[in-house]
Amino acid sequence: MKTICDASLMQQDAEAARLRGSRLALVPTMGALHDGHVALLHAARGRADLVILSVFVNPTQFAEGEDYERYPRDIDRDSAIARESGVDVLFAPSPEGMYGKGFQSFVSVEGVSAPFEGESRPGHFRGVATVVAKLLNITKPHLAVFGQKDAQQVAVIRRMIRDLNFNVEILVVPTVREADGLAMSSRNAYLSPRERAEAAVLSASLRKAEELIRSGERRGEAIVETMRGMISSGTSGAIDYIAVADADSLARLTDLHTGQEVLITLAVRFGKTRLIDNIQITA
Ligand code: PAJ
Repeated sequence: MKTICDASLMQQDAEAARLRGSRLALVPTMGALHDGHVALLHAARGRADLVILSVFVNPTQFAEGEDYERYPRDIDRDSAIARESGVDVLFAPSPEGMYGKGFQSFVSVEGVSAPFEGESRPGHFRGVATVVAKLLNITKPHLAVFGQKDAQQVAVIRRMIRDLNFNVEILVVPTVREADGLAMSSRNAYLSPRERAEAAVLSASLRKAEELIRSGERRGEAIVETMRGMISSGTSGAIDYIAVADADSLARLTDLHTGQEVLITLAVRFGKTRLIDNIQITA
């Protein structure tokens, strides 16, 4: 495995690999790798000749007062996991390397960035879209792999790729969960033992929503209320949002139509830790 920290060197390397006829896959991450990230790397490994993992805690997607400074960073551990997972190139740029002096260009995706995470984290998706655009230009992949865990992020990136004519295929990998259902996340490390135990309610509430829909419930608000009840009664979780939405447009649904792709998505705070989770199902 090769480690590259410089964007121009990465770009040259990617271009050379393309000219050799290799198929390139990029897995963009912020590091603190866990089995969710590893699932993305395995998916990439099975579909490309050259797997590039980027590890970059992107300052522009964190709002003032969020966890940019305390976000877990351990490049040696990430590097070992990357090696074991069959990564060919680890791209680990510095903040200065990515956002040099005078940086002033941003990608702003409207519409799908607006609800849910967009309301709670103003500017977040502008940072995500900007850094993903940069990473795609630097690593020139044929395929970029993302997790269903961040469903709205996927919607934003898909929109950007269509709107700005990026020549890249997107692969979305199902959410990897702990034994009790909690979606794996680098931020789970912030949870106290009690919060960690309580956080299992999130996936339980999503499974309940799925069960309701399977048994014929078609009222969006009734599903949200049941989930709200599960989370509020008996846990310290503070609900940021719970939504039943159309999986493509992300518009909230009052009535579900049979056959429709539905995204059920939530954000809940346990103490200082904000967790997100979702499921996508066919109604
Ligand atoms: P990060 O949170 O490190 O996640 C990197 C990728 O791993 C994302 O595509 C995310 O959806 C996926 N992922 C995280 N947890 C997962 C899980 N439990 N199961 C499956 N996939 C999971 O998302 C970001 O970084 C950043 O916003 C980034 C795209 C790198 C831009 O900075």
